[in-house]
Amino acid sequence: MRELLECSVDRAIAYLEGLDTRKVAPAPEAIAALAALDEGFPERPTDPAAVLQRLDDYGSPATMAMAGPRFFGFVIGGSLPVALAANWLAGAWDQNSAFFSVTPSTSVLEKVALRWLLEIFGFPSTCAGAFVTGTTVAHITALAAARHAVLARAGWNVEADGLFGAPPITVVVGAEAHPTLFKALGVIGLGRSRIVRVPVDGQGRMRPEALPRLVDPAIVCTQVGNVNTGACDSHREIVEYAHQTGAWVHVDGAFGLWAAAVPSLAYMTEGVAEADSWATDAHKWLNVPYDSGLAFVRNADALRAAMAVTAEYLPAAGEQRNPSDYTPELSRRARGVEVWATLRALGRSGLAELIERTCRHTRRFAEGLAASGYQVLNEVTLNQVLVSFGDPETTRRVVAGIQAEGTCWCGETVWQGQTAMRISVSSWATTESDVERSLEAILRVATN
Ligand SMILES: Cc1ncc(COP(=O)(O)O)c(C=O)c1O
Repeated sequence: MRELLECSVDRAIAYLEGLDTRKVAPAPEAIAALAALDEGFPERPTDPAAVLQRLDDYGSPATMAMAGPRFFGFVIGGSLPVALAANWLAGAWDQNSAFFSVTPSTSVLEKVALRWLLEIFGFPSTCAGAFVTGTTVAHITALAAARHAVLARAGWNVEADGLFGAPPITVVVGAEAHPTLFKALGVIGLGRSRIVRVPVDGQGRMRPEALPRLVDPAIVCTQVGNVNTGACDSHREIVEYAHQTGAWVHVDGAFGLWAAAVPSLAYMTEGVAEADSWATDAHKWLNVPYDSGLAFVRNADALRAAMAVTAEYLPAAGEQRNPSDYTPELSRRARGVEVWATLRALGRSGLAELIERTCRHTRRFAEGLAASGYQVLNEVTLNQVLVSFGDPETTRRVVAGIQAEGTCWCGETVWQGQTAMRISVSSWATTESDVERSLEAILRVATN
């Protein structure tokens, strides 16, 4: 066992150390070679060391270097070394972190990490929290609590009776809500196409004056961190308006919520803490390994009502927090361990510095591109830059060009009718010199 695990560590370290010198996107030959893995199920056992070698030989070269310093696609963080190390140790523990009485260590680590997170985001200490796979599932989790609460007030028990015959819930979102929010609303039976979409401004922020008249039961979904622009809705106004009629406010803060950890950015999250539930990711800006998302709900009873499970063979709820009383899953890995280790290592100042540093890198990208005459389409307030290189075809050519050139990887988007390159700086590993190297490469590709 020792030899095999040490071999795995050696290979992992060699992989990470090689990220700086390889192209960010996998080479076409490496992708073609994956065909070798597409074999029949072996009749007989194989030496585990040979299996690992096969994995490394074929798997590693065909990965996208998301763990490296110059991947700027989507909104993707790397893994801080402490987070990865904690992930390895927790993997060895192999805890099914559902009940305190069975897995006390991971349950306590979750509880402590959640308490710290509530402090970081400025939420009341009485909020409930859940470690889930990502923001999509955090939406499902928090919105199930919202569904419970708004229907309970109307005298309807949704967990017992489902949605058949229930009072209809009005659901309101901004026109630039992330697609995963619609998916989550569909999954919990609130429908994707009956949602009321509120027009947005030139940065993708919901226009508060365009909110419809709300009639109970209603849920308003806001956003901290538009996936294209990084812009944040005006929560102070929206939450105040929604709460006048008792509507539940749910916040999509997949990455933007982390702005609350930085005093100079806290203005962007003003009023966010007044909402009723929140969804965010730890695998984005906190830089823990995939997958790791978080749901928070002000009304802890509503979340427990939606998620708790009881059965004769399962430990009953006691004094201690059982993680699975708050999550869609019963059996689950102990995601809180990496989050605890990362927060413990960074501390308040280290976390603020990580977020600030990536925002600074983002601004440098925007300045460098604008200085070369390219149009930056968004107000660069967080870690997203949208840049146009001219007509849509030219912009698409530059995006494809930089992806093939390999110094860095940036994606493409169409935002408010304009085709753009998206640059998102979310990784702890990105340095100033990575930004300069990447800028040079993008400008070289754009002028060729
Ligand atoms: C604003 C926003 N919401 C939701 C999501 C979905 O998050 P996840 O992929 O972790 O489910 C993302 C992912 O980029 C996002 O940026």
